[in-house]
Amino acid sequence: MASNTELFERAARVIPGGVNSPVRAFRAVGGTPRFIARGEGAHIIDAEGRRYIDYIGSWGPMILGHGHPAVLEAVRQAAAEGFSFGAPTEREIELAEEILKLVPSMDQVRLVSSGTEATMSAIRLARGATGRAKFIKFEGCYHGHTDALLVKAGSGLATFGHPTSAGVTPGAAADTVVLEYNNVAQLEAAFAQHGQELACAIVEPIAGNMNFVRASVPFMAALRRLCTQHGALLVLDEVMTGFRVGLGSAQAHYAALIPGFAPDISVFGKVIGGGMPLAAFGAKRAVMQHLAPLGGVYQAGTLSGNPVATACGLATLREIQKPGFFDALSARTRQLVEGLKAVAAENGVPFSADCEGGMFGFFLLPELPQNYTAVMTTDKERFNRFFHAMLDAGVYLAPALYEAGFVSAAHTGADIDATLAAARAALL
Ligand SMILES: Cc1ncc(COP(=O)(O)O)c(C=O)c1O
Repeated sequence: MASNTELFERAARVIPGGVNSPVRAFRAVGGTPRFIARGEGAHIIDAEGRRYIDYIGSWGPMILGHGHPAVLEAVRQAAAEGFSFGAPTEREIELAEEILKLVPSMDQVRLVSSGTEATMSAIRLARGATGRAKFIKFEGCYHGHTDALLVKAGSGLATFGHPTSAGVTPGAAADTVVLEYNNVAQLEAAFAQHGQELACAIVEPIAGNMNFVRASVPFMAALRRLCTQHGALLVLDEVMTGFRVGLGSAQAHYAALIPGFAPDISVFGKVIGGGMPLAAFGAKRAVMQHLAPLGGVYQAGTLSGNPVATACGLATLREIQKPGFFDALSARTRQLVEGLKAVAAENGVPFSADCEGGMFGFFLLPELPQNYTAVMTTDKERFNRFFHAMLDAGVYLAPALYEAGFVSAAHTGADIDATLAAARAALL
């Protein structure tokens, strides 16, 4: 049996950094990544046979845990029928209908294969529909690795962005306005300055890529109002929050708090594929009719609406609609978050935590941060020590302080108790 270290060394010879997505390399926390051999419910088992309680869940998709029998059966059946045809299938309609039933802000969706592809297409659609070039994004929100979205704020108010990656040209970043999350004054100023040129604003309603930071209600309300006033589209990136924070996703949560609230374009991924490569973007018909083959905005994909992925997503969406599903998932997540707060309080550790549905975040900070700068004031060394102590105790948390965590329906009270016992020792 090869060890994690041996596998990592072998991987690093043939795959840059030994991984196919950077955060898997444990660079933020140090140490050797675990190579996962298999998953069982709320647990993952590594190449050395060690078992972990999994709070990553493939970064969100595995809301039912690993190997849910109904999903497994749907995937087996679909795989036997054929992997891919490059022609339409009935299951794509079923999945689209299922998503639209749960998200009333959309009349139509287009299925794609990754969140990156979905957000990239949503921005193109917004630009095509409005005939405008610029758009707003917020520091700390991640929307995939499209050039125009790999951009950070310049110095000063409402300046245009600077690339955060080599290989992104200043030209690709030039139309991206990067603002601080939850900063209403800055948002007002940016719209006053660029309003007529803005195609859209894209936002994670609950940001899961700077750990877990909610858009405040005044911020989200201002965003909606300013987009409408200036003829820009509001794009909610629900790749992470979609069908994860509740059955109606984060937009239902904000619609309950802000009268008349709805996004113009929504982007989904992760849960709608149940762990298979599948994502989607959707809007009202008037916006979606700009897409090819109806309109002039081109977008396509060989594997879009893949038969096996749609079967996996559909089976997952059907499970999460069963009565009481989100009540139970939310209660389990709250049990974890409240437990962690209590353990931290016992030990006098500065700590704050938040959750919604099956998504949570915790900070080694006394107050919940409201933006990226505040998140990054976390004591990194302390977080890394905590992460490794938890990992050694069989609890697999996200290997970076700026990532959210995920609880699945397969997590039991015993899993939470074991996690809290590990935290009690780790937080000392
Ligand atoms: C909010 C959000 N948008 C977009 C993406 C990109 O999705 P993908 O990794 O499937 O390309 C992610 C990925 O984590 C995400 O969290």
